[in-house]
Amino acid sequence: MLTGKVIEESKIGNYSVIFRYPKFEDFEDTLKYINSLVEERVYIDMHKKMSKKGELKFLTLLLRNIENREAVSLVAEVNGKVGGLVNINKGVHAENHIGNLGIGLEKGIRGKGIGKKLIKLAINEAKKNLKTEIVELDVYAENKVALNLYKKSGFKKVGIVKKGSKKNGKYSDRILMVKYL
Ligand SMILES: CC(C)(COP(=O)(O)OP(=O)(O)OC[C@H]1O[C@@H](n2cnc3c(N)ncnc32)[C@H](O)[C@@H]1OP(=O)(O)O)[C@@H](O)C(=O)NCCC(=O)NCCS
Repeated sequence: MLTGKVIEESKIGNYSVIFRYPKFEDFEDTLKYINSLVEERVYIDMHKKMSKKGELKFLTLLLRNIENREAVSLVAEVNGKVGGLVNINKGVHAENHIGNLGIGLEKGIRGKGIGKKLIKLAINEAKKNLKTEIVELDVYAENKVALNLYKKSGFKKVGIVKKGSKKNGKYSDRILMVKYL
């Protein structure tokens, strides 16, 4: 069983960080986490706050997909509280060897190397547990921090979808990136 499994523990400055698989008890933290990103209006697709019911459904499905080896997800538990999450979802059929990555961290814990570490550890897990060979992602062209993070993590830009996102009537281009493992 992978639920809650600890992958690594480290001390980052004053923070004690546990990188691990999520568990059901993370529910309150993950709900706060996602809604803090929505409120902050960061460059993610979600632009409406998540309800308790919606988050319960999300977490239940995520834990099931992890156990079925259809997804990898790791959280960063910082000083006892989950403040970041990375997902790699396995493709289906002819895209079984591909994983699609998404990541976010609460504002207060950014810029300390936690994002880079989460990506590295999640990719290792995806190679092992999902047999992933290629990781794909897309990122808003304005999201310079995420673009830097992905480049530093070995992703290469392979395309752009002009006006690929429309939030509250405002278009953004989406950049497609890929990493061959
Ligand atoms: C994008 C995000 C996950 C990065 O995580 P992070 O933990 O802050 O990033 P790290 O500290 O690991 O830094 C990794 C690299 O990102 C870049 N980076 C980090 N903070 C940066 C900043 N303020 N300005 C520019 N580049 C920055 C750097 O290249 C850094 O590498 P370096 O430290 O070796 O120079 C985080 O900022 C976040 O959650 N943002 C909001 C949600 C989001 O945009 N998610 C991605 C959607 S595609």
